[in-house]
Amino acid sequence: MGLLDSIDLNKLPKHVAIIMDGNGRWAKERGEDRVYGHHEGVVSVREIVNASAEIGIKYLTLYAFSAENWNRPKEEVDALMELLVNTIRKETDELDKNNVRLSIIGDFASLPLICQKELNEAMDLTAKNTGLNLILALSYSSRREIADAARKIALDVVAGKLQPGDINENSFKNYLYTSAFPDPELMIRTSGEYRISNYLLYQLAYAELYFTNKHWPDFRKNDLIDALLNYQQRERRFGKTSEQIQKNTPQHV
Ligand code: IPE
Ligand code: IPE
Ligand code: MG
Repeated sequence: MGLLDSIDLNKLPKHVAIIMDGNGRWAKERGEDRVYGHHEGVVSVREIVNASAEIGIKYLTLYAFSAENWNRPKEEVDALMELLVNTIRKETDELDKNNVRLSIIGDFASLPLICQKELNEAMDLTAKNTGLNLILALSYSSRREIADAARKIALDVVAGKLQPGDINENSFKNYLYTSAFPDPELMIRTSGEYRISNYLLYQLAYAELYFTNKHWPDFRKNDLIDALLNYQQRERRFGKTSEQIQKNTPQHV
């Protein structure tokens, strides 16, 4: 029995969010330039996307570039944008073949025009697909997303489309970039950093967090399976007591 067979398909998270961290350190440890680590990171992206589709995860959000990452040295930012364009160009047909639907969250307009064009084409091509939803967080800032939501709500109230009394946790969600997706149940961060780095702050309110010391280019299918198995051993209580949860959950045999 392989590791994959130990996953309980009835207890799969619908949505897994990942902070792909450690490309730079992975490269430095090998005496290479940071950009080499980003290239190797793409190999992990491909494997994790394929594995997620195979396992049956419905939504996979990958933090590929934060709004704060614009503050890195220009050569690294340029290399990352070029890598993004080339990767999308190379991988889109494969994504389409595998029934993957691509979406983007973040400040799309701040990306170089060539990136916007490639991404738009890839999103159009895969829009009809019904398998894995692959969501790339690009130029993404969760605080900005929340502030944007507040502004959109204010505009709707001014336009008379929304009453202030109708603003609540559920209606608020509709104004986030992620309105079409359920909240992640599992958030994975690689590379031994124990922080959220402005990622999905609203959406991760009750997510299970999983941290591994592995750098992203070393994170492969079996590591994803380890994270899923670890997730499946947790008791998600949502404020209730363990006894309440046990009583209502049929035990798996
Ligand atoms: C993650 O790896 C990739 C991006 C942020 C684009 P890093 O580039 O942050 O690698 P470290 O954390 O410096 O090792
Ligand atoms: C977070 O990684 C963003 C991405 C993985 C794209 P960073 O490496 O930029 O995070 P911090 O700034 O060290 O927290
Ligand atoms: Mg980092």
